[in-house]
Amino acid sequence: MDASLALPRLRFCDSLKAADDPALELRAGLSAAAASIAPKFFYDRLGARLFEAICELSEYTLPRDEQVIFDRHTADITQAVGPDCTLIDLGAGNCAKAERLFPALAPRQYVAIDIAAAFLREQLTRVAQRHPQIEMIGVATDFSSGLALPASVRAQRRLAFYPGSSIGNFAPLDARAFLSSVHAACNGGYLLLGADLVKDPVAQVAAYDDALGVTAAFNLNVLNVANRLAGTDFLVSDWRHVARFNETESRMEMHLEARRDLVVCWPGGERRFAAGELIHTENSYKYTRSGLTGLLHSAGYRNVRLFTDPSERFVVALAE
Ligand SMILES: C[S@@+](CC[C@H](N)C(=O)[O-])C[C@H]1O[C@@H](n2cnc3c(N)ncnc32)[C@H](O)[C@@H]1O
Repeated sequence: MDASLALPRLRFCDSLKAADDPALELRAGLSAAAASIAPKFFYDRLGARLFEAICELSEYTLPRDEQVIFDRHTADITQAVGPDCTLIDLGAGNCAKAERLFPALAPRQYVAIDIAAAFLREQLTRVAQRHPQIEMIGVATDFSSGLALPASVRAQRRLAFYPGSSIGNFAPLDARAFLSSVHAACNGGYLLLGADLVKDPVAQVAAYDDALGVTAAFNLNVLNVANRLAGTDFLVSDWRHVARFNETESRMEMHLEARRDLVVCWPGGERRFAAGELIHTENSYKYTRSGLTGLLHSAGYRNVRLFTDPSERFVVALAE
């Protein structure tokens, strides 16, 4: 039996639109002059597990830096937000970061939103079993073109939670548009946002090109996802993981580089790649404290408070 059925305070809502055709989007990205695959396609079940493994890597300090901040400042956050909030987790993944906030925040409702519907269902069901007192809603949706919440989400005291450095996947103007849509969806509430700070480029590249090759596997796995969703015939062994820091844009970039001249085919189309040609798979913009404050103000937020870890590698913003 589906374990979620035995949990009366847990509901799921599938808001993935038929119009969001992943095959069309993937094929269009591969056909563009500069080929690309959007990072939202990383997260099939294996991709979600590989991301969890990345978070354990010594090179990827981000989750530990962020946790230090939450350990130090959860009391400040709880005091500002107040009791009985509606905690809205954007790109919830395994829901672990939100769950760690439950004891202090004691949310009335927890809304976990993610594009990876099956993984979300599995993870949120486990979380709901551990916290039967909290009403929970799992929302499967793609929020890349703006956040829309189902009517079952409580309107009172909304706290949007966007941890990690997922905001860095958006180019600056898209980040502003996305945060404005979150602002509109949580009007009168708060935003708790994580962002990675600009740091030493060597450490930065190591964080995306670890010695064990876990990030390489995560990046390459997107080709398996494309094969499944778009009917492409990628051979993973034909491609190499590339991570580099783009200083001009202040962003880490991940690419996949063709190891030889090859052709990738899909129903109704194909794309020729020369050896060395790239598919751009992810940007991860790095912020300064003032840059992040400016972004939040431009998206409509006020009373921005910033919390950083002692090494100033990561920042968490709390904004009204
Ligand atoms: C980097 S992981 C972060 C997971 C977790 N919040 C954390 O910080 O550990 C990004 C998560 O966002 C989800 N995601 C990525 N793009 C999305 C989109 N456009 N709409 C909804 N969810 C998305 C992914 O499926 C994944 O679970």
